[in-house]
Amino acid sequence: MKEILEQLEERRARARLGGGEKRIEAQHARGKLTARERIEILLDEGSFEEFDMFVEHRNTEFGMADQKVPGDGVVTGWGTINGRKVFLFSQDFTVFGGSLSETHAAKIAKIMDMAMKVGAPVIGLNDSGGARIQEGVDSLAGYAEVFTRNVMASGVIPQISVIMGPCAGGAVYSPAMTDFIFMVKDTSYMFVTGPDVVKTVTGEQVSQEELGGARTHTSKSSVADGSFANDVETLLQMRRLYDFLPLSNREAPPLRPSFDDPERVEPALDTLVPDNPNKPYDMHELIEKVADEGDFFEIQKDFAKNIITGFGRIEGSTVGFVANQPMVLAGCLDIDASRKGARFVRFCDCFNIPIVTLVDVPGFLPGTAQEYGGLIKQGAKLLFAYTEATVPKVTVITRKAYGGAYDVMASKHIRGDINYAWPRAEIAVMGAKGAVEIIFRSEIGDENKIAERTAEYESRFANPFIAAQRGFIDEVIMPRNTRVRVGRALRMLRDKATENPWKKHDNIPL
Ligand code: HXC
Repeated sequence: MKEILEQLEERRARARLGGGEKRIEAQHARGKLTARERIEILLDEGSFEEFDMFVEHRNTEFGMADQKVPGDGVVTGWGTINGRKVFLFSQDFTVFGGSLSETHAAKIAKIMDMAMKVGAPVIGLNDSGGARIQEGVDSLAGYAEVFTRNVMASGVIPQISVIMGPCAGGAVYSPAMTDFIFMVKDTSYMFVTGPDVVKTVTGEQVSQEELGGARTHTSKSSVADGSFANDVETLLQMRRLYDFLPLSNREAPPLRPSFDDPERVEPALDTLVPDNPNKPYDMHELIEKVADEGDFFEIQKDFAKNIITGFGRIEGSTVGFVANQPMVLAGCLDIDASRKGARFVRFCDCFNIPIVTLVDVPGFLPGTAQEYGGLIKQGAKLLFAYTEATVPKVTVITRKAYGGAYDVMASKHIRGDINYAWPRAEIAVMGAKGAVEIIFRSEIGDENKIAERTAEYESRFANPFIAAQRGFIDEVIMPRNTRVRVGRALRMLRDKATENPWKKHDNIPL
């Protein structure tokens, strides 16, 4: 027996060593942690239960029969984050560059199946040279097994991808089909074809970092939802994000003890909106004053900054904030903002997270670039996402809500549950100046008359009361009471039950 136990321990030690000391050193020299070190940071201490530590590949091509490493380049299993269950895989770059073989894929598929069975999220720590080149189609089949599970799990359990090294070729499509992608600055990259292929095909010369580094994907392509300075910070932030998410689509968001008074009044909000309607202010201030302890986990903070999306809590329970940002493009909705907002709204709706929408929007962004880029269909994504969402929807119009954008931003008409406006909100088809120039075109040139007409239009429409008279706004609230009123609305809506008509699935304008 002793001998067997020793053998077991020896086998385990070999598996834990992955690709060996030298490759571990090389991994560290690049500023990267190993697959197992990452798991230790991500999970609660001592909570990791590993599966398939002794799995080896079955490939015999290209001398592979003699090259076997137990675990085959990926560490899989489950554990807890602040006591809540999570499944994970962590690719081990020290073993064949973390490349994906048939058996490596089967290990990932196993934990995904298990996660679906018990209803818990999957976090993937990606650090891989892609398909195991020696395996050919077996490896491609393995990828497709993972892709299929990504799709089946979408909307059932949250899936988070963390890119902590290379992620190239078809391998990018598994993360792309998960709910969130986060990257590590300087040490991770994602692209479908690398710099060499790009140079051959298009003649462009571009570095790995420029083509697919964290900055590119968080600020240009919007493939990634955020990035952090190094492995440790990234993993700690994933723990933070995890605390906001429910385990599955059958669960309510987690309730965390909150020490923040739900009746907290914020007098400073009464002066947040400047007197001059064309002057911006930072919508983050409002979010932070409304959320418990000002804690806000922003999603896509470096992309389409004219809309803010992210998670906070009110009375201890997760909410998704969507807010126009007057500091950028005056808060206009454009293609990027619409896509960003729509994807976030749909995530919240999948996972029973109520949506708090803070509105200050002068309309959709005009211009040929926007129209040629398909603003019609792209903007419709946000409208569609908000309309189909059945989670509680609480909306606060702080200042402008003009035109189609008024309708889109969780208005009463698209099934907003509670719609508030601050006293100086302006709800109209467009701003007074633009409106007068259209309906009183014949008077253009007569400055006095135009000024008079503008003042008339402003006094008639630049307020929330016409909408309130019609019941489109449930209540005009004092800015200082926003947290209190939103909190009460969400409490009232906690047991909301609305169902959409049966359908196979909808046909959102993609
Ligand atoms: C097998 C691989 C591998 C792979 C790396 N290795 N990628 N083994 N299959 N795909 C091995 C290397 O041989 C090396 O082994 C070790 O991993 C470390 O790799 P290095 O090249 O020394 O590391 P580095 O210089 O950091 O370069 C990393 C890299 C590079 C940029 C990822 O290895 C690379 O370009 N690999 C190939 C990438 C690729 O073309 N993959 C296929 C993509 S297509 P030793 O023993 O020397 O340490 C794809 C299709 C998916 O993925 C389709 C899904 C639909």
